[in-house]
Amino acid sequence: MIPLNQRLKEVSNFVNHKTLADIGSDHAYLPLYLLEQGKIERAIAGEVVKGPFEAAKQNVAKYQKQDLVDVRLGNGLDVIKAGEVDVITICGMGGPLIKEILLNGKDKLTHFPTLILQSNIHTEAVREAILTLGYQIDHEVIMKEKKHIYEILVCNKAERICNYTPLEMKFGPYLLKEKNEVFKEKWQRELNQLQNVAAGIKNQKEHQEKYASLINQILALKEVLK
Ligand SMILES: C[S@@+](CC[C@H](N)C(=O)[O-])C[C@H]1O[C@@H](n2cnc3c(N)ncnc32)[C@H](O)[C@@H]1O
Repeated sequence: MIPLNQRLKEVSNFVNHKTLADIGSDHAYLPLYLLEQGKIERAIAGEVVKGPFEAAKQNVAKYQKQDLVDVRLGNGLDVIKAGEVDVITICGMGGPLIKEILLNGKDKLTHFPTLILQSNIHTEAVREAILTLGYQIDHEVIMKEKKHIYEILVCNKAERICNYTPLEMKFGPYLLKEKNEVFKEKWQRELNQLQNVAAGIKNQKEHQEKYASLINQILALKEVLK
């Protein structure tokens, strides 16, 4: 049985495809688990750092899946050819890095593989990238594991022009509608942080512009959390 944390199991719920590319695969646990579950037929595990790349190769060998999981060393989507896979997972990274990987690799997305993107922070950047690339968001999940809060976006080719409002871009169109307990906890944490920073600079003349901007953000967050 491949060991997999709850976060990646949640990602795996959205995979039911032939060929997967898992970018930033680290130990290649996600592709190995999906193969074990019969949810994919083959996979490419991409890694840009030598250590995790070697770890992924070792694990693939340990589970004797060398014929089915191709571990490739390289940056982002450089490791795949256009049309080679029908689903791409990018997990465990910050939103801006996921955005950079997607935009730099846009030539590999011309056939619109499903994108399952799990960001740790700043998911707004991921939403910006997928809209730029002509995708839409079909599902959003917010979850908590061991005190950490994660967001997962499942994206497919846009069927119509998506016009998300600034609030939907920041908080997620589906997550904002649902406002579940994890959502509230995430943004309450953010609100507390902003309030602490604001209190710290409130009386500093040179930071009045930043203070005003923080107050605006605080008011917007309070409105969402109402
Ligand atoms: C925090 S780990 C997450 C591993 C796994 N995806 C997960 O969710 O548990 C991020 C991995 O992405 C790799 N990575 C970072 N930037 C990358 C890039 N541009 N291309 C490929 N891999 C990258 C890192 O080397 C690291 O192994």
